[in-house]
Amino acid sequence: MRTAGGILLALTSCSGPAPAEEFGALMEDLQERVRALVEDSDAGRADAMQRGLARIRTLAEAARAIGRLRDEARREELESQFALFLDVRLPELEAAARDGEAGPALASRLQRSCRACHDAFKE
Ligand code: HEC
Repeated sequence: MRTAGGILLALTSCSGPAPAEEFGALMEDLQERVRALVEDSDAGRADAMQRGLARIRTLAEAARAIGRLRDEARREELESQFALFLDVRLPELEAAARDGEAGPALASRLQRSCRACHDAFKE
């Protein structure tokens, strides 16, 4: 499993994978995390959901940093979508999980938030 520290290292050393590749790999990791979170939400495991959301935040922050380098033309759109995801949607879900709210509804809200950005980037 990649760490945010490893990604920063790859960015500064210039010998890591190309940004587009790295961005895609982070998205795949996010997908895995969402899958795990759906299982935790089905089981009503609020603690595990909290940890999962924290991990999702770390991965999405790394993707946001790489996205700045990657897509010159659509950087602003990507940035505003990441701001919405990381600064608005995710905090709402984190607060809900902290309050012990767990269940499929929370996982669906997360998946809708992922989709909102993907829809914005459909050609
Ligand atoms: C702020 C924008 C944004 C958010 C939020 C976002 N994504 Fe993505 N995602 C993208 C973009 C842009 C691509 C297309 C990448 C490409 O084609 O290079 C993508 C692609 C993907 C892919 C395909 C990767 C590949 O290389 O084939 C998966 C899987 C994915 N995202 C999962 C997720 C999940 C799960 C979440 C929510 C936890 C999420 N994404 C949130 C922007 C976002």
